Amino acid sequence: MTQRLCGRVAIVTGGSSGIGRAITRKFASHGAIVVVADITTDAIEGGRPVCDIVTEEGGKAVFFRTDVSIARDVDAMVAETVSRFGRLDILVNNAVLRAGKPLAETEEADWDRVMDVSLKGAYLCARAAVLQMLKQDVVGEARGRLIHISSQHGHMSAPEDFAYGVSKAGVAYMTRQIAADYAKDLIVSNAVAPGKILTGKGGRAVDPRWIEYSEGRAPWPRLGTPEDVANAKELTVITGKQKAF
Ligand SMILES: NC(=O)c1ccc[n+]([C@@H]2O[C@H](COP(=O)([O-])OP(=O)(O)OC[C@H]3O[C@@H](n4cnc5c(N)ncnc54)[C@H](O)[C@@H]3O)[C@@H](O)[C@H]2O)c1
Repeated sequence: MTQRLCGRVAIVTGGSSGIGRAITRKFASHGAIVVVADITTDAIEGGRPVCDIVTEEGGKAVFFRTDVSIARDVDAMVAETVSRFGRLDILVNNAVLRAGKPLAETEEADWDRVMDVSLKGAYLCARAAVLQMLKQDVVGEARGRLIHISSQHGHMSAPEDFAYGVSKAGVAYMTRQIAADYAKDLIVSNAVAPGKILTGKGGRAVDPRWIEYSEGRAPWPRLGTPEDVANAKELTVITGKQKAF
């Protein structure tokens, strides 16, 4: 297999589980050095820590315990990445927390914790990454690339998941704003906005009511997998240019 990310240094936030886990494995399989920035090595869906799996598969992935909602954690994680691996080519802003409640049931604490991880965390990671990328040389066409995982629910309503939907709309906006401000510096900012992805997580994620809703919205005859998103990301990194929104 052609290793299309050979030697590139990538950070994947929330890389221990779900979609971030699949992105970590995909990037590592293409030769990237992947930093998994998560609060835990435990996978929500079960299984061994992703860095162990990548190592067994012959790739390179290291875990940095990082709470993306805390600026000093994020700044230290990016600084450590650069100190160990020399630069930062790719940030995947993927970490998420959901409350799964409509407006009237959303307590202030629910709002705060969803926003802290899903929106403020994306901002803190993007800021730390861009500050580093501005200091480094251009490789290929870009000085660095940001890939934000937004969601269909950043573009249309997220039924009974109020704070999450608002956070994802914020991520979609942030993607465009960063692209507009930093394209001149050859920093690429793109988003991938998946529909429903079956990650192996239980609870609300597999509630028949929401599965039926998602199947009703999806034109493809099956729902998405984490690998579907990882493949889209790989294409975004390799071919992605600034897109006009
Ligand atoms: N699964 C879906 O159906 C779906 C659909 C569209 C978009 N998305 C987006 O894809 C991304 C990944 O979703 P998923 O379903 O794989 O998520 P998940 O819940 O399976 O995994 C989230 C990961 O984020 C980590 N995390 C939580 N809080 C953190 C913090 N404070 N700091 C660092 N890491 C933290 C968790 O430990 C976990 O490893 C999210 O941005 C989500 O919005 C998911």
